[in-house]
Amino acid sequence: MKKIMLVFGTRPEGIKMAPVVNELKRRKNIKTVVCVTGQHEEMLNQVLDIFHIKPEYNLHIMKPKQTLFSITNDILQKIRPVLENEKPDIVLVHGDTSTTFSTALACYYEQIPVGHVEAGLRTHNIYSPFPEEFNRQAVSIISKYNFAPTELAKKNLIREGKNPESIFVTGNTAIDALKKTVNEEYYNEDLEWAKGSRLILITAHRRENLGEHMEHMFKAIRRVMDEHSDVKAIYPIHMNPRVRNIAESILGDDNRIRIIEPLDVLDFHNFMNHSYLILTDSGGIQEEAPSLGKPVLVMRDTTERPEGVKAGTLKLVGTNEEKIYREFTRLLTDKSEYEKMSRTANPYGDGFASKRIADILE
Ligand code: UD1
Ligand code: UDP
Repeated sequence: MKKIMLVFGTRPEGIKMAPVVNELKRRKNIKTVVCVTGQHEEMLNQVLDIFHIKPEYNLHIMKPKQTLFSITNDILQKIRPVLENEKPDIVLVHGDTSTTFSTALACYYEQIPVGHVEAGLRTHNIYSPFPEEFNRQAVSIISKYNFAPTELAKKNLIREGKNPESIFVTGNTAIDALKKTVNEEYYNEDLEWAKGSRLILITAHRRENLGEHMEHMFKAIRRVMDEHSDVKAIYPIHMNPRVRNIAESILGDDNRIRIIEPLDVLDFHNFMNHSYLILTDSGGIQEEAPSLGKPVLVMRDTTERPEGVKAGTLKLVGTNEEKIYREFTRLLTDKSEYEKMSRTANPYGDGFASKRIADILE
């Protein structure tokens, strides 16, 4: 029997690895071991609870104001005995976080084969998003099996010299999760509050946006909110205190903006489904929105998810206050532009990515 260990640490990795964990657990000839690094604590626990996953290991590395140095160091130190004790045949990592990179590096040192879920996304600028683009590229040097969500991701890997036989186009496991969470009968008090208004959903957390960029983003949002009385916004805020301080000071005293605690993924997907449009710098939300047909203004200068831009659902608006103000206003006032961006599209798969990954591993 082969032993597969899945290692993840943040909310988005958890959401996208949970379908893989649960699919692998159904396979009789695979032993599945889950190790979470605890890079996120509360926000990952929400995911583990929703998907009923009880990790065999939790490295509990999160601390306030953690840095790229501390995360990388702590994971490298703490995962070594886990790998040496379990001796997995393959370790699966996901995406682009510091957990992903440090785990892949540790596996390389231990000469354990790595499978990379969501492989091949690229902006080709290692400073944007920071440090995610570097993490992705670095993991691709190490990984033996590459589960690419799209044909474009596969092409990116081939261009970098990866063996085509190591690459499998599976779709994105984010869509697997989405298929199980959205429910037209969903009820929530915050959504009741927004009933009768156009609902704007906001999230923001990117490291490179912390500080001035984030102030510009929120100032633009505030200006537009003040000018349109038929609009309400809900902002499930990231737990990073640096994000919270900026958001509170700029958006905190507006009675048509509700800043709430992070939603669990079931709630969040249903909030997306009820929203009019989304403003975010998130990666995962760019994958989920096209299949719900929700326009997204992406408050970043680059995206590694051009499929959603091509599909028409996403628009890159950067972090400049005037540009965000203009594009946000336009989507509220120009019906044809709004409708152009609201068509549903499915560039990220059919909801069976985790099944494909498990089949290939088997
Ligand atoms: C991390 C990932 C990023 C991913 C994001 C998803 C890296 C370098 N960054 O960024 O790629 O997009 O997760 O959300 O891997 N905190 C809590 N509780 C939690 C989670 C975070 O209190 O459950 C606070 C802590 O104070 C922590 C801070 O948030 O120090 C920042 O967390 P960190 O993982 O370093 O950065 P993220 O911005 O979450
Ligand atoms: N999400 C969630 N609750 C929230 C906000 C987001 O469950 O309050 C989900 C969202 O649906 C997506 C993922 O978290 O699946 C995105 O995570 P995040 O934006 O933190 O990270 P990124 O995708 O940018 O790495």
